[in-house]
Amino acid sequence: MAKLVVVNQAGAETEIEAAEGRTLMEVIRDNGFDEMLALCGGCCSCATCHVHIDPAFADKLPKMSEDENDLLDSSDHRNEFSRLACQVPVTAALSGARVTIAQED
Ligand code: FES
Repeated sequence: MAKLVVVNQAGAETEIEAAEGRTLMEVIRDNGFDEMLALCGGCCSCATCHVHIDPAFADKLPKMSEDENDLLDSSDHRNEFSRLACQVPVTAALSGARVTIAQED
């Protein structure tokens, strides 16, 4: 189990428990964050699961695929901490990370 702090689009923070082996998208969505649209269900084809991940945890993330990179390029809200939450597995190493749901494009 990892504890994550999810920051919604209004800036409100909520701590959630996240099971390892699931993706960030799944745990955020299943904790009732309607802003996590995840329209493609995690197939890396919609970019509606865009999040900004705590810079302190940047080196704990898997490498970004070319598809993920291309999809993120379509967002006006991309920054250097952007990821698609469906492409990031929850691991114990992410415990304590703040994950901010990106503003909608
Ligand atoms: S849920 Fe569609 S790209 Fe992540």
